[in-house]
Amino acid sequence: MERVLRRLMTGETVSGEMIAQELGVTRAAVHQHIGQLRDLGFSIESAARQGYRLTACPDSLLAPVVQHGLSALWAGRQVVYLKTVGSTNRHARMLAAQGAEHGTLVLADSQTEGRGRRGRSWISPAGEGIFMSLILRPQTHPSQIARLSLLTALAVAEAIAEATGLDARIKWPNDIVISGRKVCGLLLEMDADESAVHSVVAGVGVNVHQQSFDEEIVHTASSLDLLSGRTNSRAAIVRAFLEAFERAMAMDDMDMMRAYCARSATLGQRVQVISLTGTYTGTAEGITDSGSLLVRADETGELREVLAADVSVRGIMGYV
Ligand code: BTN
Repeated sequence: MERVLRRLMTGETVSGEMIAQELGVTRAAVHQHIGQLRDLGFSIESAARQGYRLTACPDSLLAPVVQHGLSALWAGRQVVYLKTVGSTNRHARMLAAQGAEHGTLVLADSQTEGRGRRGRSWISPAGEGIFMSLILRPQTHPSQIARLSLLTALAVAEAIAEATGLDARIKWPNDIVISGRKVCGLLLEMDADESAVHSVVAGVGVNVHQQSFDEEIVHTASSLDLLSGRTNSRAAIVRAFLEAFERAMAMDDMDMMRAYCARSATLGQRVQVISLTGTYTGTAEGITDSGSLLVRADETGELREVLAADVSVRGIMGYV
C-alpha cells in the first residue's frame, strides 16, 4: 500500500495498469490498495481509462507522506510506520539491535505503553500526537550523550516553531514548552559499554491535536492545536524535525549551545532545584558544555552545577 501511495504522491494521474507494472503486482492488488488508502482518508480520483490521481491527503504519518519533499540526507531516509505499538522507543531499540541504520525513524499513530522519563507513562492516543523514535549511531563516547539530548530538544523546538509559527522554547534539559505549557517530552535511551556507544534512540512525543488532558497534567500540558487555534500537520512537523536534527548534528559544539541557549525557557529564570538531598531556590545562569545547568543559589550566592539526571527543576512562578 505504501508503494502505491508513493507513486500517487508524485501528483500525476497514473493508470492502475501502469502502477501494477511498475510495482510488479496485479491490477487487483492495486485496486485493493487504492481502497485501503481511501479508507484511511486519502482522496483519490479515478477517471475511466485515465487512471488514479491523489487529490488530498489526511493527517497521516505513513512513510510516503512524511518523506514527501523531505530534504534531509540521512535522517528519516528509512521510516518504519506502525499503526499501533507498545512503545516506539522499545521497538526502535529492538530494530537497532538488529542492525537498523543510522537515521531510521520509527513512527506510530498510537502507543499502548508509551514511556516517559522517571518511569512515568506517556499517554499516546491514536491520531492525536506524534510518537516517534530516531535511531542514531553516533561516533561518540558515552559521556557525550547529554549533548545529544540537548541537540534533540533544539531540533524539536525549531521544528515546532517552523511548522506551526509558535514560540517553542526548551525547559532545561529537554521539555518543549509554549506559553508555559509542556507540548513535548523527550526520552533518550542508549545502548553502550564503557568506551563506545552502539546506538541511541531519541524518543519524542509531541501533543498535536489533543483537546483535553488528564487531571494530573491538565494545568501543565497543552497541544499545538490548542495553542495555535488551528489544526497542524503532524507529517510537516516530523519532516521539519528530521531536517532540523541534521542541521543541529552538523553544528560545532559552540554554535549548537548558542542556538540551544537562544531557545531556552529556563535561562535567566528563578528556579527551584529538587534533588534527593534537598531543595533550594536560585537563578538559572548558564549551561555548561556537558549540558549541566548552572544555578546561582539564593542562600549562599554560589554557582552550583546541576546534572539533569539528579534533579527536577521547576520555575518558581509556575511550571517553567
Ligand atoms: C517525558 O517524560 O517527558 C518524555 C516522554 C517521551 C515520550 C516519547 S513518545 C515516543 C517515544 N516512545 C516512548 O515510549 N516514549 C517516547
